Amino acid sequence: MDEIVNGDDTKTATGGGMGTSAMWGGRFSAGPAEIMERINASISFDKRLYKQDIAGSRAHCRMLMDTGVIPRADGEAILAGLVQVLQEIETGRFVFKTALEDIHMNVEARLREIIGPPAGRLHTARSRNDQVATDFRLWTRDAIDGLEGALQGLQRALIDQAEAHADAVMPGFTHLQAAQPVTLGHHLLAYVEMVGRDRGRLRDARARLNESPLGAAALAGTGFPIDRHATATALGFDRPMTNSLDAVSDRDFALEVLSALSICAVHLSRLAEELVIWTSAQFGFVRLSDRFSTGSSIMPQKRNPDAAELVRAKTGRVVGHLNSLLMVMKGLPLAYSKDMQEDKEPVFEAVDTLALCIAAMTGMIGDLTVNRDRLAAAAGAGFSTATDIADWLVRELGMPFRDAHHVTGAVVKLAEARGVGLEDLSLDDLRSVEPRITGGLRLDPAGSAAGRTSFGGTAPDNVRTACAEARIRFLSEDEA
Ligand code: ARG
Repeated sequence: MDEIVNGDDTKTATGGGMGTSAMWGGRFSAGPAEIMERINASISFDKRLYKQDIAGSRAHCRMLMDTGVIPRADGEAILAGLVQVLQEIETGRFVFKTALEDIHMNVEARLREIIGPPAGRLHTARSRNDQVATDFRLWTRDAIDGLEGALQGLQRALIDQAEAHADAVMPGFTHLQAAQPVTLGHHLLAYVEMVGRDRGRLRDARARLNESPLGAAALAGTGFPIDRHATATALGFDRPMTNSLDAVSDRDFALEVLSALSICAVHLSRLAEELVIWTSAQFGFVRLSDRFSTGSSIMPQKRNPDAAELVRAKTGRVVGHLNSLLMVMKGLPLAYSKDMQEDKEPVFEAVDTLALCIAAMTGMIGDLTVNRDRLAAAAGAGFSTATDIADWLVRELGMPFRDAHHVTGAVVKLAEARGVGLEDLSLDDLRSVEPRITGGLRLDPAGSAAGRTSFGGTAPDNVRTACAEARIRFLSEDEA
């Protein structure tokens, strides 16, 4: 979005008198110091709000016309002029000026150049305080919609792989130690659920943020007979915010979104970490495509999972942005303080970063090749079917589980002493520990996974059902 904007930056604010700002310079006799202008200006980043700012201004203008607050002819001129400003920005012809501080004053100053004095009526019954709060809510709402679609794409890639590998047996880990065999499909579907909740958190935040601050004016509301319900509806908000002080001074919607983004980033980071581990020569479970691998400048054999590592690392940025805005907000008295201008960059940057991470993860998962033999071989390592012995003793011999656990421990000890796996022990070996064991006890990882059919369990049949169900739950709107 930024690159369409040409940034030739003259220091003169149009229409201002004697070096003072056009918008608020009436009571000043000297313009701001250069350093004052630099610390004060937000145009370098809030120009990203141009579309929302113009939409908000057009809704406000129509309402001012309809309520008779401004003459209809002036209103029509403002509406047309704002369309021209929008076109100028979108075609890269607009010149953003630091001296005009922010997107609101840049747009209004250009409007005045285009239509002349009627432009001055647009700011009736509003303030930059309710204006920026409105713009930012609208921008954040759009960002949520974009991220939700991207997360849905990631879920689709995960479900496709889960379906293809519903019966690929692999080691399930606790403490990163072999625990029990699971299926790769089941493992991937775990992330589908996490991402589903990430989407839910974004949707919840969206529902709460979708109220309009417009018309709260500077902080106290206004004496003009405005219609806040009309502007709220025009901008797709559910209703106007109830309290004018709250409307201009809280940024909890931004914090809530940053929290949701942080949790999502942490989920992606964990998956990224697994890809880093699984692609290592020692594991060799999966292979990233050439499109998502990088080489080493010195070691010709290397295929590095840089994208996964960067998804893992960039989580730090997203969580950092949440912290940054929490710190900005924590000591602010009501209502608006300029501190709040620092709310936008954390959200912009967190959204951009997460969008990139989701895209990279979707690409990596979609292209992933799975080494099913390697997974199967690893699935039985580390005595991972030991629980199956204990369960068999309970089921077939009626042993209390604690006793069965103890007997199984002795079996594992025997295998360990021999340096073999559990499946390599003969029936006689097993009977030397517990004479009642029969040939019915079979110890293969695939059988172990296939037996875990409880609701939410790892058996391939469960995974196939869960994939179909996840498609309906998470993807159905666009796949039906
Ligand atoms: N650029 C400002 C911001 O982002 C707009 C609001 C300015 N309001 C004010 N009272 N100075 O917060």
